[in-house]
Amino acid sequence: MTSSAEKIKKIAICTGGGDAPGLNAVIRAAVVSAINRGWRVIGIRDGYNGLMFPEDFPNGGLVPLTRESVRGITSVGGTILGTTNRGNPMQFPVRRPDGTVEEIDRTDELIRLFRLHSINALISVGGDGSLAIANVLARKGLRVIGVPKTIDNDLDKTVATFGFDTAVSFATESIDRLHSTAESHRRIMVVELMGRYAGWIALNAGISSSADAILIPEIPYDLTKVAEKIREVEEKGQRYAIVVVAEGARPKEGKVSTVGEKEAGRAERLGGAGERVGRELQALTEKETRVVVLGHLLRGGSPTTFDRLLALRFGAAAVRALDEGQSGIMVALAPPRVNYVPLEEATNRMKTVPLESDSILTARDLGICFGD
Ligand code: F6P
Repeated sequence: MTSSAEKIKKIAICTGGGDAPGLNAVIRAAVVSAINRGWRVIGIRDGYNGLMFPEDFPNGGLVPLTRESVRGITSVGGTILGTTNRGNPMQFPVRRPDGTVEEIDRTDELIRLFRLHSINALISVGGDGSLAIANVLARKGLRVIGVPKTIDNDLDKTVATFGFDTAVSFATESIDRLHSTAESHRRIMVVELMGRYAGWIALNAGISSSADAILIPEIPYDLTKVAEKIREVEEKGQRYAIVVVAEGARPKEGKVSTVGEKEAGRAERLGGAGERVGRELQALTEKETRVVVLGHLLRGGSPTTFDRLLALRFGAAAVRALDEGQSGIMVALAPPRVNYVPLEEATNRMKTVPLESDSILTARDLGICFGD
């Protein structure tokens, strides 16, 4: 964590990685709080692309953000700045003449571009990848404040990220709806939810919607255990079952389900976890099974009140932090406060579900099976 006394005149905001409901609320709170301090604010389009590749943006890669441009966006999903999870400037993919792809570090160039545009400080809103970049930029001398975003809730050192509550609420309501159709047809319904490295969405939504089994990345599964659970509930008179699967769940002796080859400069795409579980459960139980993938529906729509408020608090806190001379920190929820955590610490590890957490114990007490 460093502090700087340099007087701020102009700051930039960027949003990176997968979008999450609440991004616009952060932007609005940061813009209004900064303007109220007499600062100018610009938005960088599509992560850092607007700064690095302005020629790709016919209306400019940098957009002035004013009170007018952020009016009415608190309740709107997505990000008015656009985002990307390609072209990480720390591992920027460059195609060599022989067709192979090399990943190069372009963060020095990025620092020069911030200086060229007389940008005194950056508010970077993002998940693990974006905050790791923010940390490097801060170490290289740019004043940076990170704001934790992800529907997956897998960022450490904050009790919650915004976007998570919206995703869990939507998932819970969707699974609630599956109970009646599952019961009418006496089927197994498998619901795949996002959750790359951590099973927070699956766990919280699965408990809240009375799932019979929840499969999460933290607990590699054995489907014979899930099939046993389904037979057990059947014997007790429930002739259908709901199985919630995080996209990053994997069998005890197997790997996560991915789609296609990993592209340079971006994380591998996950997909197919629910299909795999559905196919194998049908074979094990001989019960008709259907699979629903909620996927990007979890990232869309208007943020819940909780996420709006959290996002507004984070956006305003990021500007306060800059005003106090902070840099290299992430704003974090530590109820009842929003505090500051060094980016170095916040990006050290992912926040996965602790196996002895109260939620896991609650689920086990309720008879929910984790496939272990
Ligand atoms: O990190 C958030 C997340 O929603 C993950 O759960 C998921 O694996 C990933 O983003 C999907 O990203 P994309 O939009 O590139 O498919």
